[in-house]
Amino acid sequence: MKEINVAVTGGAGQIAYSLLPRLISGETFGENTKVNLRLIEIPQVLEKLEGTIMELIDCGFKQMGSLIATADIKEGVKDADWVLLVGSIPRGIVIDGKKIEERSDLLKINGGIFTDQGSAIGKYAKPNAKILVVGNPANTNALIGMNQANNSSQQWFAMTALDANRAKAQLATKAGVDISDVTNMAIWGNHSPTMYPDPYNALINGVSAAEVINDKEWIENSYLPLVQQRGKAVIDARGASSAASAANAAIDTVKSVDNPTEKGDCFSAAIASNGSYGVPKGLIFGYPLRTNLDGSVEIIQDIKINEFAQSKINSTTEELLSEREAVKDLLI
Ligand SMILES: NC(=O)c1ccc[n+]([C@@H]2O[C@H](COP(=O)([O-])OP(=O)(O)OC[C@H]3O[C@@H](n4cnc5c(N)ncnc54)[C@H](O)[C@@H]3O)[C@@H](O)[C@H]2O)c1
Repeated sequence: MKEINVAVTGGAGQIAYSLLPRLISGETFGENTKVNLRLIEIPQVLEKLEGTIMELIDCGFKQMGSLIATADIKEGVKDADWVLLVGSIPRGIVIDGKKIEERSDLLKINGGIFTDQGSAIGKYAKPNAKILVVGNPANTNALIGMNQANNSSQQWFAMTALDANRAKAQLATKAGVDISDVTNMAIWGNHSPTMYPDPYNALINGVSAAEVINDKEWIENSYLPLVQQRGKAVIDARGASSAASAANAAIDTVKSVDNPTEKGDCFSAAIASNGSYGVPKGLIFGYPLRTNLDGSVEIIQDIKINEFAQSKINSTTEELLSEREAVKDLLI
């Protein structure tokens, strides 16, 4: 059996609880790959993590390799093939008597976490490691981590697959088709309410979803806010943020990066802009992506951007630029 090392931060959190069994069940990396898991947590939570580890052992998956629980990021990411950065500090937490509500405060606190993690990944993870940031604010955390890692042979992603899955589900329901009939779903920009889940280039059985649905008012005033605010709606209903669907999207992203994309389709994740579609170079920006047969990941070019889409792409770019400005001290 082939072996790979997968490091996951936030191992005792709720997303990890749904994610970890699926990483070692054969589903994500294949039936013939043994997965060595390195679970990274803050020291106060290591005991709780032991409980999760007991459950992973009790699943009895034959693809489960070694298991390490650690609060030392260097030990955790050593020789990692994949690093899933799930752990972060949620909005609303009280630190030093202050409730963290502002996105700018959240950016700075989590940014601090991602500087250390990024530099450890750059030094100790494998040269061809792939890194997926799930912890919010995901794009800017990835920007900080990638800068600190300073290792151009590794590839960083921020997760927008959950937004893509949400968008596909809404379009499929509206059009009365199966979700597998919806393809080419691109999430442009930031994993935040400014994201643009593109309904014009998404296809339903090969035809533009916007054309099939033929209801501009619904697309612009119902569909977009519904997808953009779906995370908040889940929190309001469940009293906790999306976990099973977030874990599922992380698995989808790993599989999309590790396997060639079906001809004519795309997958959604945020990666460092190379200037495509006028987005400033280096910003971690959600794009339609494709994994080629040689394993390289590229931004799909020549997608038609109409005036409406361009205005949405401009707003999400502005937001990412202001986030970058807020954490500029953490970038090297
Ligand atoms: N990108 C997306 O689509 C998406 C979707 C849902 C949730 N999220 C984000 O994912 C993150 C995790 O969500 P959750 O519901 O699992 O949260 P959670 O609070 O249940 O778990 C987070 C875990 O991270 C750990 N952690 C904090 N700092 C850490 C550090 N420095 N190193 C290692 N572990 C650390 C915490 O101890 C905790 O166990 C949140 O930031 C959430 O906003 C992203």
